[in-house]
Amino acid sequence: CGIVGYIGLPEKSSDHQALDVLLEGLRRLEYRGYDSAGVATVADGAVETRKKSGKLSNLVGEIDQAAMTPASVGIGHTRWATHGGPTDENAHPHLGDGGKLAIIHNGIIENFAELKEKLLAEGETFDSETDTEVAAKLIGRLFAGDAAGDLTEAVRLASNELEGAFTILAVHADQPDRVVASRRNSPLVIGLGEGENFLGSDVSGFIDFTRDAVELEQDQIVTITTDDFRIISFDGSPAEGRRFRVDWDAAAAEKGGYDTFMEKEIHEQPKAVEDTLLGRTDAEGRLTLDELRIDREELKNTSKIIVLACGTAAYAGTVAKYAIEHWCRIPVEVELAHEFRYRDPIIDESTLIVSISQSGETMDTLMAVRYAKEQGARTLSICNTNGSTIPRESDAVLYLHAGPEIAVASTKAFLAMITAAYLLGLYLGQLRGQLFTGQIKDILADLHKIPGKIQEILDDADTIKQLAAEMKDTPSVLFLGRHIGYPVAMEGALKLKELAYIHAEGFAAGELKHGPIALIEEGQPVFVVVPSPHGRDSLHAKVVSNIQEVRARGAKTISVAERGDDAVENFSESVFHVPGTQPLLMPLLTTVPLQIFACALASEKGYDVDQPRNLAKSVTVE
Ligand code: G6P
Repeated sequence: CGIVGYIGLPEKSSDHQALDVLLEGLRRLEYRGYDSAGVATVADGAVETRKKSGKLSNLVGEIDQAAMTPASVGIGHTRWATHGGPTDENAHPHLGDGGKLAIIHNGIIENFAELKEKLLAEGETFDSETDTEVAAKLIGRLFAGDAAGDLTEAVRLASNELEGAFTILAVHADQPDRVVASRRNSPLVIGLGEGENFLGSDVSGFIDFTRDAVELEQDQIVTITTDDFRIISFDGSPAEGRRFRVDWDAAAAEKGGYDTFMEKEIHEQPKAVEDTLLGRTDAEGRLTLDELRIDREELKNTSKIIVLACGTAAYAGTVAKYAIEHWCRIPVEVELAHEFRYRDPIIDESTLIVSISQSGETMDTLMAVRYAKEQGARTLSICNTNGSTIPRESDAVLYLHAGPEIAVASTKAFLAMITAAYLLGLYLGQLRGQLFTGQIKDILADLHKIPGKIQEILDDADTIKQLAAEMKDTPSVLFLGRHIGYPVAMEGALKLKELAYIHAEGFAAGELKHGPIALIEEGQPVFVVVPSPHGRDSLHAKVVSNIQEVRARGAKTISVAERGDDAVENFSESVFHVPGTQPLLMPLLTTVPLQIFACALASEKGYDVDQPRNLAKSVTVE
């Protein structure tokens, strides 16, 4: 979500100074979420809010209809829904303390159900389904109670009760001279002006007004007034942020300083995986996918899973097949949605359809889900876009929480889809008693280590980029993978086609000898996704033989292998090492160098990686 906060001297500029600043900031932040938007200002001893589902323009229309009182302090939000669909009620701000407090929030409050129960028992009522309103009611009660009318203290006390990742901004009618913000895990930056100060989820929220900024650290609270800012830690002790000057232009700021959204999204992958995992385990480390609205018995009795998807999402589906079949012993078929529907597939009430779609609007996938529903199947959607059509029409949904993906070709959503599919597999394994609690805990623990490992790959990307520059004129690239590396090879090839317009094919390495090997001639680049040397069944040795086979015929081999896997060194022109993890989780790591390679090669060629020719982010025709 995008967040802005503002406080200025009333005489500073126009009548609508706070509102103008907030709307300008939101316009710049709209790329962070665009399913609803809202503002709250404080004027004449009262909080006033406007909020509306849909794009920011809907909110502006609403304000045009019902003008707001001139104000010099306020907060604004543009939403990417997590808890609760994108409706007017669920849009931020949310109110507390009898309407005198307004807050906006970015992130996920993991213990919101517990807190909500407690607040309901204390007599609070709720207008929305959001976790944010729970925080609003909590801060409101603390303001009136233990914090004795001090907004900073109320936010601090509440922050200590909240679990998860969040940035919260709050204003209160009784303390109109401040905006208070709290930060845990989700980003927050202060913008310093003269006689005015700003807050933003990133600097683009205020870049039109100031370039002096202070970044907050984890578990800190900041109070801004017109001429000062004060930072404390969650324990109340004074703290300091990191001061810096923004030297990007506004367009670069939206992209977090990267040249393209694609690069930004590739770099957001540690967070995307982390956010997909967030809030889905209980204190004992068991998976709690409470959000799945399918009867547990029905889920348990699933006799077959069919994954339906298109493009990158379909490769995430193939990864899901390998993991879910292994963990749950349920047969899993993966089918391109547009093929499935027209071939008279065998489906019944015990079939679970798992659709995977970033946008939730892909027409081919939607039609296939509708068809399966008509045949009596249960439908579960793995999706990134809250409130989109496919999840709305499905019996259950597992949202990715990866944040908006702007670049047309998918990167962070792919890793988040795989992560969500793992969670689903583990959950089914737990329900069906196929996996012991200890096994699930081990796999979850390894999943939680993945974001750090992705970061290591990102930090070490120079050699990949260098190779991309050297290979910029290559007319064709082949990708080989085996087992769970096979869909990774397919995705690596797809990225290169999509971004760099190079002929690229992904093959199952074992299939090579049955045909594709005829393509190999002197100098043909071949990427090989090498299985873990610690995996079972001598897969690793087989792939090393495959590398030798193509090499003997003149191929230039480039291996993506686990760190410490020296066996491939002798047979590879280049090796990209990635950290190790359980073999089934490897796609979350081996995919990353291939994304970086395709993106860098396309940039070398001067192509627009965010909007490749002929492609659309969401294809809403069949
Ligand atoms: C389009 C995009 C692909 C994407 C596919 C599925 O073709 O260009 O990048 O993988 O749609 O999109 P979805 O939103 O359903 O995941």
